[in-house]
Amino acid sequence: MESSRPLFIPVILGTIRKGRMSAHAAAVMVEEIAKRPGVETELIDIASLPMPTGEDDAWEAIRNAGFADKMNRADALVLVSPEYNHSYPGLLKHVLDSCLKEYIHKAVGIVGVSAGPFGGTRVIQSLVPLMRELGLVNIFWDVNFSNVQKVFDASGRLLDESYRRRIDKFLKELMWMARTLRHGRENISLE
Ligand SMILES: Cc1cc2nc3c(=O)[nH]c(=O)nc-3n(C[C@H](O)[C@H](O)[C@H](O)COP(=O)(O)O)c2cc1C
Repeated sequence: MESSRPLFIPVILGTIRKGRMSAHAAAVMVEEIAKRPGVETELIDIASLPMPTGEDDAWEAIRNAGFADKMNRADALVLVSPEYNHSYPGLLKHVLDSCLKEYIHKAVGIVGVSAGPFGGTRVIQSLVPLMRELGLVNIFWDVNFSNVQKVFDASGRLLDESYRRRIDKFLKELMWMARTLRHGRENISLE
């Protein structure tokens, strides 16, 4: 029996850079998820999270209760990450490392953003093994915003509507995986 409770799929904006184009990509993802019935979403901007460093146990010291609650409630995550030196922003890793059990058996889809032609494919490749280690389940579709400075205008308006078709395919797969994994978490024992 499928749960009638709405899915919760937050979108994590993974950079704090001033002038970040990834913010436009994250806004489109939130807009597209919000259109779908039976799904709730919100933007989690890592720039708005406290980033403590601590002398105590490293993992507990960087934990943020508000972020952990959202990860606990989430059925799936959309991760929007720019490509910085062929990898992901260090502060995104810092935030992701602050949780673990909250992610287990939940779906994740990755949106790569780059100024170059490859649409963040290299950052996605770097993130895939990290997702696995966190217990998240990668879907097999990505969204790649290549030449991102040409995809949005200065106000963040999407100039290339063809992205919406790709996002639709990505979200259908992500929602299927989110529902499937929720069913498993709630009904199927590991033993
Ligand atoms: C430190 C740094 C490293 C970058 N490295 C790459 C890279 O390896 N490949 C690439 O395509 N773009 C690279 N870029 C450009 C980003 O892709 C570009 O800034 C794009 O707009 C997405 O990032 P943003 O959200 O910070 O704007 C880099 C940008 C910065 C600030």
